[in-house]
This record gives sequence, C-alpha cells and structure tokens, in this order.
Amino acid sequence: MSENGELPLFPDEPPPAPFVTVAQQGDIPDGQGRAFTVGKRVVAVFLHEGRYFAIDDFCPHQGASLADGYIAGCAVACPWHHWRFSIEDGTWLDNPKIAIEKFAVRLSGLDIQVQVPP
Ligand code: FES
Repeated sequence: MSENGELPLFPDEPPPAPFVTVAQQGDIPDGQGRAFTVGKRVVAVFLHEGRYFAIDDFCPHQGASLADGYIAGCAVACPWHHWRFSIEDGTWLDNPKIAIEKFAVRLSGLDIQVQVPP
C-alpha cells in the first residue's frame, strides 16, 4: 500500500532509476558528444542545436564510442565504420528495426543529468 493508502498500480515494477549528474552545461560543445560512466553503463551525451540527448555509447557493430562520432542532423555516425544512429531515440538509421538504448536527460540548474536503469 502506498503512503496515501492506495494500492500501487504496478506493485512489481521497480522504482525509476534516479537522475545522475554527469557534467555541467558548457562541458559539451554544441554539435559534439561526450561519454560518461553511470554505474556499469557508458552513456553518450550529445548537445545538438541547444538540446541534450543521451544514448548507449557502445556501437553494436564493433564497440566504438559513439560519443566520438560525427553529428549530422539528429544522427551520429560511428567514428569507425559510419553506422548511423538517431541521437533522439537510438534507432539504427540504416536498419530501423534495430535500436540501441536511449536515456532520459534533463537539466537541473547547470547540471546535465541522465537517468540510466541499472
Ligand atoms: S564500430 Fe561502429 S560502425 Fe563499426
């Protein structure tokens, strides 16, 4: 039972992961990405036209860091073999049936925060 006496809607669902500060505004130049370790994951955070995006940093092809890739529009091209992924939702743009994980990202004051499930 919850604090207000109501039964939880999804009692077996784990609580949402907390947002974690990975950088400060100004640490990521517009049009670039940076990689950050959050727990056991590495997250690529991009700043594109004033908005932040966060996806899994690990390229599923051979493991390059997508944070080191090249941004064109809302896509990042892997620096090794140029597979392209949406920085908005992680879709592999050359085969949209496949996607890498995306993460919620927000600003809290000057902090850039990401929410990464364990
Ligand atoms: S390692 Fe990313 S496309 Fe090959």
